[in-house]
Amino acid sequence: MKKISIAIDGPASSGKSTVAKILAKKLKYVYCDTGAMYRALTYLALEKNIDFENEKALVELCLAHTISFEQTEKEQLVFVDGVEVTEAIRQPNVTNAVSIVAKHAAVREKMVEMQQEIGQAGGVVMDGRDIGTAVLPDAEVKIFLVASVKERAERRYKENQEKGIATDFETLKKEIEHRDYLDSTREVSPLKQAVDAVKIDTTGMSIDEVVRAIEEIIATNK
Ligand code: C5P
Repeated sequence: MKKISIAIDGPASSGKSTVAKILAKKLKYVYCDTGAMYRALTYLALEKNIDFENEKALVELCLAHTISFEQTEKEQLVFVDGVEVTEAIRQPNVTNAVSIVAKHAAVREKMVEMQQEIGQAGGVVMDGRDIGTAVLPDAEVKIFLVASVKERAERRYKENQEKGIATDFETLKKEIEHRDYLDSTREVSPLKQAVDAVKIDTTGMSIDEVVRAIEEIIATNK
């Protein structure tokens, strides 16, 4: 069967990574979490004390270090220069700075280049903010996942609790809204539904239901 490309975009905590991972496993496709790449760069900027507004220094940082993934049976591990940062890049200090790092045109250019390289052979499920619009504009299947802010904050709150990350619910909700605002209003490839993407509102839906809905869309494309 022909290996297609599946682009999944949507706002923060809309369930993109969870369903993308499940779909990739079922289809035996490569999974690419583009948010993790922006997070890894933000982590590096924090480590090296680079100003988040310094576009040139951020690009140099990106060129000087290697961001890589390793797929295990259970999860996708993220590495910077071979050192595992999977948990570190999910911490609040990274989450609250990543949208500033991700707004720069030259940073995005570099990231998109790396992401297109991963996706060029097809057989990929890629999630992010600009996959359907900029990274894989020819993807056979494009999904735009949304959910109410309240539900997204609840999901993230639960996830954080399970990971032992202490968070206040109201603060989390405000941070999600703020990140959505920054991601949707930036000049370069803002978070936006591609014209040919199918929108799924996952509010009140289980993960299984979302996966099934996407599988049905994939089936109509084969
Ligand atoms: O998906 P996740 O929430 O981990 O993404 C973290 C941040 O990375 C987003 O809030 C956004 O600023 C940035 N991002 C982006 N483009 C992508 C993926 C993520 O700008 N394709």
